[in-house]
Amino acid sequence: MQDFALRLIAWQKAHGRRGLPWQISDPYAVWVSEIMLQQTQVETVIPYYGRFMARFPDITSLAAAPEDEVLALWSGLGYYARARNLHAAARRMMTEHNGSFPSGFEAIQTLPGIGRSTAAAISAFAFGEQRAILDGNVKRVFCRLFGVDGWPGEKAVEARLWKLAEMLLPEEDIQSYTQGIMDLGATLCRRSRPDCDDCPFADDCIANRECRQGELPAVRPRKDLPERETIMLVLRHAGEILLQKRPSSGIWGGLWSLPECTPDEDVVLAARHLGYEAELLAALPRLDHTFSHFRLAIHPRALAVRHRPDAAHEPGLIWLTPEEAGQAALPAPVRRIVETL
Ligand code: ADE
Repeated sequence: MQDFALRLIAWQKAHGRRGLPWQISDPYAVWVSEIMLQQTQVETVIPYYGRFMARFPDITSLAAAPEDEVLALWSGLGYYARARNLHAAARRMMTEHNGSFPSGFEAIQTLPGIGRSTAAAISAFAFGEQRAILDGNVKRVFCRLFGVDGWPGEKAVEARLWKLAEMLLPEEDIQSYTQGIMDLGATLCRRSRPDCDDCPFADDCIANRECRQGELPAVRPRKDLPERETIMLVLRHAGEILLQKRPSSGIWGGLWSLPECTPDEDVVLAARHLGYEAELLAALPRLDHTFSHFRLAIHPRALAVRHRPDAAHEPGLIWLTPEEAGQAALPAPVRRIVETL
C-alpha cells in the first residue's frame, strides 16, 4: 500500500489520542504506562497510572518500595506478574544501570516483563528509535488491512505480521506513527463493530472490501484445556477472614489468596494444619477460572474458627476484614469470593 505511514501519521494528528498523561519523553513514565497498557485499556489505566506515578515518581522510589506496596497499587488491574517484573526491573536498573533507565532497544528488551513489542514502543516513544511494534491491536489492524489469514499467535503468521510491521515504518515521526497504529486499532479497528466508515484505509482494507471484518483476525484454534480442582478455605473469625500469601513464583505469585487444600482433604484438618480449630459452615458456590494452560474449578468452603490464639502469627498468614482484604492484591476469583462476604 502506498504511503501507509504518512497517511497514518496525518490521521493520528487529526483524530488520534492526544494529551494522555504518559505522552511525555521521560523513559520511566513511558515504561510504566506501556506495562500498564499491556492487556488493559487506556480508560482503565489512567487512574492507576496517576496513583502509581504519584507514589513512585522515579526508578529510585520504585526500587526502594516493598513489593507488597507495588502490588497493592496494582490491585484490580490484574496480571500481577507485570507489577512484580516492574519492581524487579527497577531494582536491576539501580544495580546494573546506576539508577538510570537503559537506553536502546536491545538493553530495554532484556528487562523482565518486556518483550519485543513493548521494548519497541518504549524505544520509539522515549528515544525516537525506528522500531516496529506488534501488540494485539496492531495484529488485528494488519490482519484486516492485508487480509492475513491464520491465528496471529501462530509462529508463521506472527512472523509475517512482524515483516509487515517492519516494512511499513515511517522515515520520521516514529512517535506519531506508533501512537497512530495503536489508536487506529483501539478506536476504529475494534474487534467487534469496527468503525470502517471513519477509517482512512477503508478503500485499501481487504477485510472491509470483502466484508470479512468478523473473521479477521482468525481466532485461536480451540484446544481442550485440562481441568484442575481446588478447595479454598474461607476461615472466619470475629468479622475477619484469613488470607495466605502465595509463593512468589508460579500461579498468582506474591498475591494474597485464600488457603487451599485438595478435594480429597478434610477441610477441618486443613484448617488445623494452619493452626486453627474450625467447623465447616457451608459450601459456597463454585467458581471457574481459566489460565492459559488449564482451567481451575474453585470450591470455596466457609468455616468458623473457634478461637484465635493471640500469639499465632504465622508468616504469610493475615487476618483482615473483607473491606481490608478488598484493598489487597488478590487473584480475581478470590476477590469475587471476598466481595460476597
Ligand atoms: N496501548 C499500549 N500502549 C499505548 C499507548 N501508548 N497509548 C495508547 N494505548 C496504548
